[in-house]
Amino acid sequence: MKGIILAGGKGTRLYPMTIAVSKQLLPVYDKPMIYYPLSILLLAGIGEILIISTPEDTPLYKKLLGDGKSLGITIEYKVQDKPRGLADAFVLGADFIGDDDVCLILGDNIFYGQNITGILRNSIEKLNGATIFGYPVKNPREFGVVEFDDDNNVISIEEKPQFPKSNYVVPGLYFYDNKVVDIAKNIKPSERGEIEITAVNNEYLKMGKLKVTLMGRGIAWLDTGTPEGMLKASEFVEAVQSRQGFYMSCIEEIAWRQGFISANQLLKLGKNLKTTEYGRYIISIAEEALNK
Ligand code: DAU
Repeated sequence: MKGIILAGGKGTRLYPMTIAVSKQLLPVYDKPMIYYPLSILLLAGIGEILIISTPEDTPLYKKLLGDGKSLGITIEYKVQDKPRGLADAFVLGADFIGDDDVCLILGDNIFYGQNITGILRNSIEKLNGATIFGYPVKNPREFGVVEFDDDNNVISIEEKPQFPKSNYVVPGLYFYDNKVVDIAKNIKPSERGEIEITAVNNEYLKMGKLKVTLMGRGIAWLDTGTPEGMLKASEFVEAVQSRQGFYMSCIEEIAWRQGFISANQLLKLGKNLKTTEYGRYIISIAEEALNK
């Protein structure tokens, strides 16, 4: 399974914060936003990753994350010259995907909670077509919305409907088999001029190959769409970290726990950041592992 992080777009809803810099590079408390979706791919055990962004921002992501070698993974980059829609990730990523299955995560989606690793692993092991998620929200109109029949079977996904048929929406985390590349290539642009991920999901639904896994209250899916959402997301991260002493979405720690790097390599990464709490946290877990 390969992984794609879509981190382009104009971020107009966060202007002026995002006039000069990509939304997914903005900090959420103590780390760049893209660390959160990247950590999800690492937790899923995915070590081959493609980051897609704008012509201006792609060099910045390269500066931040490089080729992934220090995390024991590979990171490639692809430029999206215009925000053509989420399904464009599979058109731009076709060569990278090759004959594999693929997980797409949006660069501004933050997930946290009990058993997220189990949910990810399960989605990969049992993949048969497409697996997406349903998450209850108070403002479904702003998302892709899942419609269920009386027996809880999914009967449609609607993109930003005026009259949502449920309060379960589809977060920006999707698992697909290799057919997604051909499906995406044949999607026609919607009224807003985008090739929609919702159209891809409806194609899988038509084939009887769409699984919607409901995420319960134990999982937090944080909103980063507004300045208020950004502040609340930062507060959430700070609260979890200061209470538990564990870091949320520390990519170096996860790379080590997943076996992508050794404790010695982890220690080295921590030492590069030793002037910060973040770096000292990495050093402490590496030293603990080395002294065992
Ligand atoms: O967050 C989940 C929602 O994401 C889903 O519920 C919707 O079904 C799906 O369409 C999408 O909703 P939005 O229309 O709100 O997505 P937005 O245009 O904000 O784009 C999501 C992220 O992807 C954003 O960080 C920018 C980036 N992006 C977007 C487009 C259209 C790209 O990198 N390239 C693109 O072409």
